Amino acid sequence: MLDLFSEEAPWQEPLAEGAVILRRRARDQADALLAEIYAIAAQNPFAHRITPGGHRMSVAMTNCGDLGWSSDSRGYQYTEQDNHSGHKWPPMPSLFRELAQQTAQEAGFSGFNPDACLINRYEPGAKLTLHQDKDEKDLRQPIVSVSLGLPAVFQFGGFERGDATQRVLLEHGDIVVWGGPSRLRYHGILPLKPGVHPQAGAFRYNLTFRRAH
Ligand code: SIN
Ligand code: FE2
Repeated sequence: MLDLFSEEAPWQEPLAEGAVILRRRARDQADALLAEIYAIAAQNPFAHRITPGGHRMSVAMTNCGDLGWSSDSRGYQYTEQDNHSGHKWPPMPSLFRELAQQTAQEAGFSGFNPDACLINRYEPGAKLTLHQDKDEKDLRQPIVSVSLGLPAVFQFGGFERGDATQRVLLEHGDIVVWGGPSRLRYHGILPLKPGVHPQAGAFRYNLTFRRAH
């Protein structure tokens, strides 16, 4: 019998106008998503980038898709190749693309066609300070963010760095979509607590899908 109140059924939690959490939405695909992440990292390994200010980021990153986001002493940019390895970014798996397109649609953004997927890997203590995603050309396109592995506290703020933030726990399989009037909201991740996740080990992984160009 279909159990509508099963723990496994995804549900939506609005965050702000144009921003919603699709709870557990990626859970059924999580193992396949993780396998794709490991295959991508085997080609273009996770690396700790240096911010333009000269700090080593605590989050390790790689990318897939036509374009990948990275940071170095010159600034933040989208590039077709990994500056560490000199290789092109691996193609975006169709599993990734379809999940991003479908969930953007569920959140009210039809026609999303990402050309970049940033893959973040958090180890205990790793964090992402409050920032805006604003290196993309077309800010009418949303951001789709998929959380896997260890839980983390996501901060979702306003349009100034100092604005009050909501704090929400993002767990394995949760997807956050923000766009429209929320597209430029500040957001970040508080330092990851140590733990062991049955599927992802001692890490949190996050995929963020963007339309960069
Ligand atoms: C990001 O802001 O790019 C990533 C957020 C997250 O790891 O959930
Ligand atoms: Fe971001």
